[in-house]
Amino acid sequence: MILVTGGAGYIGSHTVVALAEAGYKTLILDNFSNSHPAVLDRLERISGTRPNFVEGDIRDGDLLDSIFKQYSITAVMHFAGLKSVSESVSKPLEYHANNVLGTLNLLAAMQRAELFTFIFSSSATVYGDPDSVPVKEESPRSTTNPYGRSKLIMEDILDDLHRAEAKWNIARLRYFNPVGAHESGLIGEDPQGIPNNLMPYVNQVAIGHREKLSIFGGDYPTVDGTGVRDYIHVMDLAEGHVSTLDYLLKSGGMLTANLGTGRAYSVLEMVKAFEVASMRSVKYEIVSRRSGDIAECWADPSHAEKVLGWKTRRGLDQMCADSWRWQQRNPEGYQ
Ligand code: NAD
Ligand code: UFG
Repeated sequence: MILVTGGAGYIGSHTVVALAEAGYKTLILDNFSNSHPAVLDRLERISGTRPNFVEGDIRDGDLLDSIFKQYSITAVMHFAGLKSVSESVSKPLEYHANNVLGTLNLLAAMQRAELFTFIFSSSATVYGDPDSVPVKEESPRSTTNPYGRSKLIMEDILDDLHRAEAKWNIARLRYFNPVGAHESGLIGEDPQGIPNNLMPYVNQVAIGHREKLSIFGGDYPTVDGTGVRDYIHVMDLAEGHVSTLDYLLKSGGMLTANLGTGRAYSVLEMVKAFEVASMRSVKYEIVSRRSGDIAECWADPSHAEKVLGWKTRRGLDQMCADSWRWQQRNPEGYQ
């Protein structure tokens, strides 16, 4: 059985579906700080079986010990954590307590249980403002905010751990920009309050919850002046985790990999593609740059392809169509 921390959240829930499809049993541990219990019913509807679930916090060591005693866990996929860059600037202690201390607590409990296979959600944010694109795993790392620092710190600690004890099998997966939803429209991204990220905001404009999209910056040195990113369908990302798990269980060792498509799109290109997929128009206005944003970042995903035999399969049209299906069928999210 695979322990999926944060498995009720956006990426974790889609990965639970991909794990079930690949024949793995899962146990979700989540404190619902950024998710909703209804996701468990939806997962059952998609996969035909209900994932095992424990409500609780990764910072609770006794709870982790009891989970590792009660269930026969073979590996841990660790998605639980806080993820808002802007919130991390105003709440650094909360971010480091969750993302660094929480992860250390989980690793210590794994060590007590003699369980040594661990997949960590890192982020393209560790490349900071890259000097050149596409970024490779060896590209320089840097950060400008506490969220990014929490990922950098954990990447380094995992490196220390593997150097000290080679029995640990560890993957540090650097996600680019996950978008889209499961094709059933039953699970998807459900941001609380005003969305920080582009695609949830675009969806909310299209459905009529928000008046218009503010495009942060029209004067970047990019194809059309707007920011450029590597958007990856969340189910491709989820399948990348299954490939990583298969790889770690078979070959072990330490893996660092970019999970992106290698394709770059500007904000305006995303809006246009979404308008075509949804057959709605998305009103927007170009405003000043968002502080901390970079002009462009996209992945060189060739390492993941070579080592894992994994490749993204879903293009931009499907990313937009699937996110719109989720939004239309769940205009208020899981509520
Ligand atoms: P999410 O907020 O949707 O999911 C995280 C889940 O973890 C939520 O269900 C939340 O309730 C749970 N959680 C948070 N703190 C917890 C704790 N202390 N104990 C137990 N459960 C806890 O986020 P997501 O988009 O699915 O991201 C998953 C991981 O991927 C995070 O580590 C995030 O930093 C990383 N990541 C996300 C993105 C992105 O754009 N979504 C990009 C790169 C990396
Ligand atoms: N954007 C807008 N308007 C919005 C929201 C975003 O114009 O309302 C623009 C941004 O300026 C950027 C692009 O859309 O050019 C993408 O922005 P997102 O906020 O969706 O994504 P980011 O690339 O800024 O950051 C995301 C996550 C980070 C993660 C990073 C890399 O939020 O946590 O991807 O994985 F680190």
